[in-house]
Amino acid sequence: MVLTVQSFAKLTLVLLGSVALASPSLTPMAQDHDHSAHSGEAGQVTVTAAEAEASRTLFSQYGCGSCHVLADANGYGSIGPAFDGNDALSVEHVNQIISEGQGAMPSFGGMVSEEEIETLSRYIVAKKAD
Ligand code: HEC
Repeated sequence: MVLTVQSFAKLTLVLLGSVALASPSLTPMAQDHDHSAHSGEAGQVTVTAAEAEASRTLFSQYGCGSCHVLADANGYGSIGPAFDGNDALSVEHVNQIISEGQGAMPSFGGMVSEEEIETLSRYIVAKKAD
């Protein structure tokens, strides 16, 4: 009886030990993922080919290019600020302007899904020319 209790205690310690050993290897992975997901720096923003294609379609469909310069999406309008050569654009900023509008810039919040706005924002920051 005593032996069984001791074995159980040992087993518990061994199990706790492996959990403790396993955790450090999981933590850095989770942090890496978080880092890339929340990155707002222009140089690190990327889109897949499919996302870029969908965003180009949205960009012309919603007339962004008639007011903004973004050569990658065939936009050469000059009513709003150009995106090519614009250092002030973060994904968050672009997302907010598209969703809420600003001044003469109409809001697209009701017409485009949040997911499409998020993809379009990453696309603009990723593909704008320096
Ligand atoms: C009718 C013209 C017009 C259309 C269409 C338009 N915009 Fe704009 N946009 C503007 C103007 C004008 C501003 C400047 C607003 C201000 O600051 O007063 C602006 C500002 C912006 C900004 C902020 C730029 C900066 O340097 O801070 C972003 C990002 C933006 N627009 C994205 C878009 C996207 C994406 C679309 C298409 C979904 C779009 N716009 C469609 C006129 C337009």
